[in-house]
Amino acid sequence: MNNTIMTDAFFASFDSSALDISRADTLPPQCYNDPEFFEFEKDAIFYRAWLVVGRVGWLKEPGDYYTTSHVDEPILVVKDREGAIRAFSPVCRHRAALVAEGKGNARSFRCPYHHWTYSLEGRLLGAPAMDRTCDFNTKDINLPEFKVEIWLGFIFVNFDPDAEPLAPRLTALSEVLANYDLNSAEERRMEGEPRKEPWNWKVRFENSNDGYHANRLHGGPVHDICPSDLASFPVLPAQTAGYFRYNQNTHADASFNPTLKALLPIFPKLTPEERHRMLFLCVPPTLTMFARCDMIAYSMFSVDGVSEMTARQGWLATPGASKDPLYELKITTNINTSLPIFAQDRAVDLSVEKGLRSRFACRGRYSWQEGGQIELNKWLVDHYQAAWNKRKGNGLG
Ligand code: FES
Ligand SMILES: [Fe+2]
Repeated sequence: MNNTIMTDAFFASFDSSALDISRADTLPPQCYNDPEFFEFEKDAIFYRAWLVVGRVGWLKEPGDYYTTSHVDEPILVVKDREGAIRAFSPVCRHRAALVAEGKGNARSFRCPYHHWTYSLEGRLLGAPAMDRTCDFNTKDINLPEFKVEIWLGFIFVNFDPDAEPLAPRLTALSEVLANYDLNSAEERRMEGEPRKEPWNWKVRFENSNDGYHANRLHGGPVHDICPSDLASFPVLPAQTAGYFRYNQNTHADASFNPTLKALLPIFPKLTPEERHRMLFLCVPPTLTMFARCDMIAYSMFSVDGVSEMTARQGWLATPGASKDPLYELKITTNINTSLPIFAQDRAVDLSVEKGLRSRFACRGRYSWQEGGQIELNKWLVDHYQAAWNKRKGNGLG
């Protein structure tokens, strides 16, 4: 018996998740936990969308490199001899060992297994004892290269060689972030290994731009400076690749710490209006940001499996912020104030993940304070339905 959920009716049912928020349903629970759907989602989303892999500042000198992955696909990010940031598959063209892991500085990448060696530009430079191999020419062999785009200092890659550029579809976010000057921001990264999270990536992604839970789950003297009923959702351009919500604050220059006011220097170009609100921004499927007047917190997600993801966090402040002798104390106070809030978010993420696996999970309805979910749904449904129609066109559906 064929128990697949992958039918025309299932994909048509997504339409009701992309309606106006007053009418929309949440996505079917199977979109979060069905292994067959996850395999489909890799093709529909992760092999086509722009995926964040880091910040420009992570690579300083030619030869600097680091490795990461998305949906189990290893990625090597490197600054080449000309200073350009490039991304490759580090899978050796011989027998598939990884030619680079971790991070460092290299003049070339030598595969540890049989010592095939590749340039910073991905060309095979040498392969020992291959002189008796017929029709073998090192000049024909390169590491597969991925498209790279830099947006506000974030490095994105795309596995699809025909991908459309990202920035033209992020104009709304570029404009609302212009006065934060993120290209020149000072970065502080979370120390230690990134955290592995045991839930579907959409559970986390939805949580990160959900004005509805602010005063409920996080209700208390800190988070209440950014109340749910002061959330608002801009009209975004068609085909936008990102979305955001404004959240007005109860007072100007608000920040999450025991003083409830900015501790780090305020981004100097912010207008009075910008100093009176926070922004919650998303570039699905891998980047979220939370902007306040003195600091932007980002999370970069890597999806490892249907119920597995990794979150890399960091913070961006105005240049020179770290010169203050009290910087360490101030930024640590900001970060530490948010830790209990993160813990509350993680607890409900786990709870939602468990609930979605229940036979009794249903498609729910939205509050007006959840406008971000509709933007995510529209983006997802566009990708899901396009990939499903393409699959059917190929006779695979
Ligand atoms: S697998 Fe890389 S040289 Fe053999
Ligand atoms: Fe939260």
